[in-house]
Amino acid sequence: MNILFIGDIFGRPGRNIVKEKLPELVRQHSVDLVLANCENAAAGFGITPALAEELFDLGIDVMTTGNHVWDKREIIEYFAMADGNPHSPARRLLRPANFAPGLAGWGLYEGQKKGVPYAVVNLQGRVFMGSSDDPFRYMDRLLESIKAKIIFLDFHAEATSEKVAFGWYLDGRVTAIVGTHTHIPTADEIVLPKGTAYITDVGMTGPYESVIGVKKELVIDRFLSGMPARFEAASGDVRLCGVVIECDDTTGRATRIERLMLR
Ligand SMILES: [Fe+2]
Ligand SMILES: [Fe+2]
Repeated sequence: MNILFIGDIFGRPGRNIVKEKLPELVRQHSVDLVLANCENAAAGFGITPALAEELFDLGIDVMTTGNHVWDKREIIEYFAMADGNPHSPARRLLRPANFAPGLAGWGLYEGQKKGVPYAVVNLQGRVFMGSSDDPFRYMDRLLESIKAKIIFLDFHAEATSEKVAFGWYLDGRVTAIVGTHTHIPTADEIVLPKGTAYITDVGMTGPYESVIGVKKELVIDRFLSGMPARFEAASGDVRLCGVVIECDDTTGRATRIERLMLR
């Protein structure tokens, strides 16, 4: 199975480049399963039900999020819409599993594509991030219940050390662990010795003439003055960042990871 994962889709520029490039990417890389992080799809902050549906309609199978998941409060009602249907679009939108118990939404999706079972997990890191449950032990517990051999993890985290450590911790136990959240792609993609594909951060799908997606003047001003400011999405130098991961359907082991950056 070939899995395409698209990094944090940021605002309209991010959504547009996904719409423009996805069909060709799927053809070119014989992609079977399309995953994306969409926590910044709504002008950089969160995702609305309408935008979630728009992205699913482009052919994305499962979407992950992160710390921005609640920025648009309507998404809570969207999660509620999934009740009773284990494969509805609303159920295929994830938020980090290790958030406080009892919140809306799910951090694990188990499905099938072309007859092959797979699981997608979304977890958030704890270093320089809001508080959450320990992702390491949380993943240990999740792995006890997941039956699929193909297990894909979006680890939404800030610190490179926490991400690299989690990669080694999970080597041989998941198909892939990819980092999101920093919006800056790293050049360390690798298939670890026991068959887990890893990259510290896939990077953002959005405007790079910016400070991690936001109009650069606004962020520079914030650093200079320390005053609160309303952040707006930038628009220049739009890129799609992602990875394609090839894995064995029967063992779930990754055989290849390729980093993508399209303009
Ligand atoms: Fe993000
Ligand atoms: Fe984030």
